[in-house]
Amino acid sequence: MIMHSNIIFGFSKLSEQEKRNFIARICNDSSVTEERLKHFLMEDDTERNRFLDLSENTISSFHTPYGIAPNVVVDGKVYHVPMAIEESSVVAAASHSARFWAEHDGFRVKEISTIKIGHVYFRWFDHPSYLKDRWNMLKQFLLEHLKNLTTNMDRRGGGIHSLELVDATKDIEHLYKLELKVETVNSMGANFINTCLEDMAECLNQFFAADHDVKKCQVAMSILSNYTPDCFVTVEASCEISKLKPIAEHLTAEALADNIHLAYQIARQDSSRAVTHNKGIMNGVDAVLMATGNDYRAAEASAHAFAARDGRYRSLSSCNISNDILTIELTIPLAVGTVGGITNLHPLACLSLEILGNPTAKALKGIVASVGLASNFAAVRSLVTTGIQKGHMRLHLTNILNLFNANSGQREEAETWFSSRKVSFNAVKHFLYENTH
Ligand code: MEV
Repeated sequence: MIMHSNIIFGFSKLSEQEKRNFIARICNDSSVTEERLKHFLMEDDTERNRFLDLSENTISSFHTPYGIAPNVVVDGKVYHVPMAIEESSVVAAASHSARFWAEHDGFRVKEISTIKIGHVYFRWFDHPSYLKDRWNMLKQFLLEHLKNLTTNMDRRGGGIHSLELVDATKDIEHLYKLELKVETVNSMGANFINTCLEDMAECLNQFFAADHDVKKCQVAMSILSNYTPDCFVTVEASCEISKLKPIAEHLTAEALADNIHLAYQIARQDSSRAVTHNKGIMNGVDAVLMATGNDYRAAEASAHAFAARDGRYRSLSSCNISNDILTIELTIPLAVGTVGGITNLHPLACLSLEILGNPTAKALKGIVASVGLASNFAAVRSLVTTGIQKGHMRLHLTNILNLFNANSGQREEAETWFSSRKVSFNAVKHFLYENTH
């Protein structure tokens, strides 16, 4: 290993233990650091190695609470949904909300689509008509080649949906793209799509090389798009306004419905609020994606692009009141898998899918979106009734008491004392000091 001041070359070549030693040495107490890093590793060698191999330069594992939101009813089926998230109150809020909606027929999947998309970007330096005139022949050539890759996917009911040539020259000179749409059934399909695209890029070069025209065509890159507007799900839930009374706190059911409706309208029009409103949706969405081994970064990127599809960033969910019925609805692009990737490798991701009854990717989309909508409704209800802090404070207090290693007596006293007072780090510190001296 070579080191120039703080730059390390060859870190990846060190063994797992050597990497830990190295990092331990740059911390205040190397033996404590080393012990901590080891403490969070799994004991079972096979599981631990499989887990460590998921990523690179791994020296420990980073734990996240894994909880359950029980009673999420989707299309009449009850799910007890695993959620992996570190933020306090999210699981509790989703659970309360899911329970409320379970009493009102739960969530319904209104619409679902599953088409994913990817592109080969290339520059074309000859006359556009030369390319366009050959497009049908080129398309047949590409599709014929793709057959070698799609046999298994075809057998599972998926495969190529369409292939088009897109002229992008009005945005960037000479730029075109091959746009491939695919159905990947129960897999997220990232590897499948990227393999197909890279194969197409090679074939594109070959096609024009045969014409001695390869210089006219320069491939820039081949990659799936995480923007999946044709791979979305819409879920909704509704109840009579009068049924809101048990969750209306000090308000009447009608006043709560009116407040909720207004809050959703604000999030539709005001981007500043829409971002936070959507964050409340993604709290639920990401936690289920994480627990099931799905790519929540892809979901985030796609959701926010979708939220801004008409040029202004807006809420992903909406609320409608008609004939004394309140309906909430969420449309979100979601590309998920229940086979392949880490869904089969991560022991807890496998378990999550088992807890959910090994759903299809379509069913999982409905569950994920329902938890997103449940989280969103819970947040909005709190905001327009008691405010968000009340619910947060109990867990916040627990976290602060944990930081001070409070004993059970102190915890009990603190919970009574703070049940009617504002929780802050300093207030809890002061309280503990007063009660131990
Ligand atoms: C906090 O993680 C999420 C909320 O801010 C969402 C919202 O404001 O709707 C409570």
